Amino acid sequence: MRTQVGIVGAGPAGLLLAQMLHQRGIDAVVLEARSRAHVESRIRAGLLEQGAVETMDEAGVAGRLHRDGLVHHGLQLRFGGQGHRVDLSGLTGGKVVTIYGQQEAVKDMIAIRLAAGLPLHFEVDDVAVHDIATARPRITWRQDGQDRALDCDVIAGCDGFHGICRPSIPPAALTVFDRAYPFAWLGILSRSPPMSEELVYARHADGFALATMRSRSVSRLYLQCAPDEDLSAWSDDRIWSALRRRLGDTLEEGPILQKGVTAMRSFVAEPMRHGRLFLAGDAAHIVPPTGAKGMNLAIADVRVLVCALEAFFAGRGEALMDAYSATCLDRVWKVQRFSWWMTQLLHRYDDHDAFEERVRMAELDYLAGSTAALTTLAENYVGLPYAV
Ligand code: FAD
Ligand code: DHB
Repeated sequence: MRTQVGIVGAGPAGLLLAQMLHQRGIDAVVLEARSRAHVESRIRAGLLEQGAVETMDEAGVAGRLHRDGLVHHGLQLRFGGQGHRVDLSGLTGGKVVTIYGQQEAVKDMIAIRLAAGLPLHFEVDDVAVHDIATARPRITWRQDGQDRALDCDVIAGCDGFHGICRPSIPPAALTVFDRAYPFAWLGILSRSPPMSEELVYARHADGFALATMRSRSVSRLYLQCAPDEDLSAWSDDRIWSALRRRLGDTLEEGPILQKGVTAMRSFVAEPMRHGRLFLAGDAAHIVPPTGAKGMNLAIADVRVLVCALEAFFAGRGEALMDAYSATCLDRVWKVQRFSWWMTQLLHRYDDHDAFEERVRMAELDYLAGSTAALTTLAENYVGLPYAV
């Protein structure tokens, strides 16, 4: 078998890349380790920048997103027991963000690809990439008990943080930046109406909490916990009382549909390309979720990669492929900075440094009263302009 672009991973990055290449007449094969049911039910991010929605629109995958997505013009920061509204649209010349569950976007893109009869293989085992430093890279895997191989012009490593593509690059060719945080998030999905029309980010003496949503009747709630938190120690009652303390008594309770613990880290591997292997999304970088940037950054990488591959397959040379990593990393580091900043500002640190604690409170207080500071937050939150 052969194709132009072999794509490892059917998350947001791999599926969007496949669709945007298809629109440009470029062939791709997508290989996914897990089952369709698994990737369609994996609950993760939910907030899309305005540019991410526009990108999905241009890709022709935003039909249901426009019907079911919830458009937000602002958010609430809560600290010292008080709420402070951030007018995202007012501060950014009318930009908005949209709440739409990542797995819904994944479902839409899978359905569109399969309906078009385009190759997307689930439950493939032992995926490996070969000859990535040559002009004929190859992917091998096992499927239905058989060994398979795919010759490619280019391989896109869209296989997330725990995938095989990044580790296939010789370690000496990569520089890795990694930061762990001394906390994690316990997240729940609950059948209960959102506590307010807009997201609430709360800093509380007990720790951070976030109230977001998936629809007018389903809430998504997060609370700061220990990095090795034992979920079995959290009864539903304990979760609700912790959330109500941090977010306020107006929070309505409901049956908990799902719960899990998400680790927090900042991670970047540079460069995002080795020979004919291009990394995109979580395969190359991870941000802590506080700024809601993981999926958005994956989409931004894909835009850059599509431009570079379009030029390459149209015979316009490799200049954009050569620029891929630097172009992506420019945004990646700005988003790393923002995600780190939101995270350290809003979380509780147990190694209680009284000086830093006072500085954080002063910064929040300054932020709430300064249009300049709020504008900085807002323009990062709705999404910085794209390079391409
Ligand atoms: P992924 O979505 O990870 O997709 C990679 C795909 O590759 C997966 O389908 C995986 O099964 C597949 N794969 C892996 N290895 C192989 C292999 N060897 N062969 C073939 N396929 C393979 N971001 C936020 O902004 N807010 C959040 O609240 C938030 N919550 C999160 C919760 C969790 C538990 C996790 C893990 C991430 C969360 N994120 C969140 C981050 C966000 O979901 C990611 O940034 C986003 O999924 C990145 O998309 P991706 O396509 O790069 O990677
Ligand atoms: C969601 C997750 C986030 O990390 C965030 O900052 C905002 C929203 C969400 O799951 O809806």
